Amino acid sequence: MAIRKPHVGGNWKMNLHGNEAAALAQAVVDAVGGSDAVDVTICPAFPYLSQVAQIAAGSHVKVGAQDAYHEANGAFTGEVSLSMLQDIGVEVLLTGHSERRHVIGETDVLVNAKTRAALDAGLDVILCVGEKEEQRDAGQTDAVNAAQTYYGLAGVSADQMARVTIAYEPVWAIGTGKTATPADAQNAHAAIRKVLSEMYDNNIAQATRLQYGGSVKPANAAELFGQTDIDGGLIGGAALKADDFLAIVDAAVGTPAGA
Ligand code: 13P
Repeated sequence: MAIRKPHVGGNWKMNLHGNEAAALAQAVVDAVGGSDAVDVTICPAFPYLSQVAQIAAGSHVKVGAQDAYHEANGAFTGEVSLSMLQDIGVEVLLTGHSERRHVIGETDVLVNAKTRAALDAGLDVILCVGEKEEQRDAGQTDAVNAAQTYYGLAGVSADQMARVTIAYEPVWAIGTGKTATPADAQNAHAAIRKVLSEMYDNNIAQATRLQYGGSVKPANAAELFGQTDIDGGLIGGAALKADDFLAIVDAAVGTPAGA
């Protein structure tokens, strides 16, 4: 079985101002910027992307944007294009985050447009999927994840899949302190990997990194990342403190999934 390099993302959401964002970025780059054992992506808010990208430049740490618009240019007031982000050193785009789906109202169609545009532009993508609590209670977890994976990746080529990471983030676990049990998370990840094998083939399914997200912290990271199909995490609250985030990165390095 392929051994996938772990990938840990820090999604800072709408948090941290100027100096805080720069200081956190510097601490992450200082600690893991030279490591080839793990891929680390940090995603600050738009105003700090440029500064954080300068801090990360030349290191292994990649900088991601939390959103972008899929059109190249034009009359789209308030939106930011992919090439603008690339201009300032952004290499990764988050798409389909549950807060964009369920708070901002992004549809599967828009998530797909952004995913394809980012890949076509040469960016990496972290595509987020995950069920709401009532969907989980109704036994729909795998169906929701499958649908969001199929829609999100529609039109994405096999070659482009090398630049895709999928983050399984159960909505009820985000920012709540509730975490999926390692066994439940593993089952959801295995089901997503099966969808990838149906959409593409088994090699691509085995090579694609699947992150777990939702109240990951230093205390639970190692057990989650130790599951066969969990290849790292997408971290929110615990990514805002260097010590916590770096402990989580350490946990991912210590437990290569698929090994
Ligand atoms: P928390 O780690 O705060 O639950 O957030 C997870 C998340 O949404 C990362 O994208």
